[in-house]
Amino acid sequence: MSPLNTSERVRFFSEDRWTAGVVGLGYVGLPLLLTASESGLGAIGFDVSESLVESLGGGNSHIDDISDEQLRIGLDAGVEFSSDPSSLKGADAIFICVPSPLGRNREPDLSYIRSAAETVASVAQQGQLIVLESTTYPGTTEDYLVPALAEVGLELDSDVHIAFSPERVSPGDDMKTGEIPKVVGGVSDASGDVAEAVYRRLVPSVHRVSSARTAEMAKLLENTYRSVNIGLINEMAQLSHELGIDIWEVVDAAATKPFGYQPFYPGPGVGGHCIPLDPQFLAWRAREANFSTRFIDTAEQVNSKMPAYNVDRITRLLNGAGKPVFGTEILGVGIAYKRDIADDRESASLDVLAELRARGAIISVLDDTVGADRILSHGYEPASIDDLSRYTLAAVLTDHTDVDYARLAAEVPLVFDTRGVFRRLGIESESVVAL
Ligand SMILES: NC(=O)c1ccc[n+]([C@@H]2O[C@H](COP(=O)([O-])OP(=O)(O)OC[C@H]3O[C@@H](n4cnc5c(N)ncnc54)[C@H](O)[C@@H]3O)[C@@H](O)[C@H]2O)c1
Repeated sequence: MSPLNTSERVRFFSEDRWTAGVVGLGYVGLPLLLTASESGLGAIGFDVSESLVESLGGGNSHIDDISDEQLRIGLDAGVEFSSDPSSLKGADAIFICVPSPLGRNREPDLSYIRSAAETVASVAQQGQLIVLESTTYPGTTEDYLVPALAEVGLELDSDVHIAFSPERVSPGDDMKTGEIPKVVGGVSDASGDVAEAVYRRLVPSVHRVSSARTAEMAKLLENTYRSVNIGLINEMAQLSHELGIDIWEVVDAAATKPFGYQPFYPGPGVGGHCIPLDPQFLAWRAREANFSTRFIDTAEQVNSKMPAYNVDRITRLLNGAGKPVFGTEILGVGIAYKRDIADDRESASLDVLAELRARGAIISVLDDTVGADRILSHGYEPASIDDLSRYTLAAVLTDHTDVDYARLAAEVPLVFDTRGVFRRLGIESESVVAL
């Protein structure tokens, strides 16, 4: 094999029609695959789940932000789905978008990344660019991808290029993958040059950094910033309540400052499978370096106690009306971790409901976005907005836009609003108490 010519690869990725191979077709991978297709490139999607591959090939999207119609357009344009790793041999750039959860002791579970790296290495071809997009600790791309490829005889820069580019997809928001600027860092300068050329074909703006580690760290900074600020506002919410001040009014007031302030909002806790988890990658890496991450730890402590704090407030609200939690019918409104998405992974809303159930409340859930199957899978009865008379209290835990909040306020005697949605919608009611 002749050594790679980096400038030729940069020219190829900048000018020619090439093929993207995406490993892991979830919330991140599927939109990226379709973005490649929409950019006029070839697109091959690989996933270990045969049933997922079959259903995507049949035109059924499992991701909120991708409609069946968008998927159908992709299929008509030639997007391929496969559960056979050898399909990736036909790709010029391979993007790894597999899960990166935490293990039982909140240490990074890198088993998916390791397995995906081995799979890619087993089929990798000379000249390919391999990019990791999964969120992870700084150093992962060097620690996992480079050795996996070297193991099969493919050396960095002389045979393959290797880089990291964090995903910034925001489920449920209007901004799509192809519109969001990307941070890109290569394991080497040559790899960075090639990866930059690749992403310039996919997104309008690429911010090149000097290394894969920097790109990995940038992602963790973004999400740690969110976690710390949410921790701050969750603590401010508790303090404001003690002082008899409405936190929602306070945030709205502070947000009028045209510089130096970005509003964050309190809620049932911190949810989703990014914000609560990603700072832990950094904390874990810091422990290895004998460094203590005080901001991360404090935010984690405050945020992880928010579900219990909300349950306490709900308990007091019921007590005020002479009702116990035990045996009382409570309606949980929303179990997704975020408004208008169907994803309930790591949702703090579920933590609130689990604690209320543990205290003997009888829980039903209203969440048409997440749907009855998921609600039942958590052991709750799906509820209807047309049948509210049995509930003593409704806890608004996720502020989906399709809920008739005025009706909720009118028909349920007590409503606890963890999202400030009634204030936002201008619905005034004596039955509503906000966090
Ligand atoms: N969902 C988000 O909002 C979001 C945002 C930014 C970053 N991320 C990060 O992106 C990564 C992917 O997250 P996601 O939400 O898309 O996950 P997901 O669970 O929605 O999808 C992951 C897919 O990867 C597949 N998979 C697992 N192991 C595989 C392997 N070895 N080979 C091929 N396929 C494999 C799974 O079957 C699944 O379909 C994670 O690191 C996550 O932290 C997610």
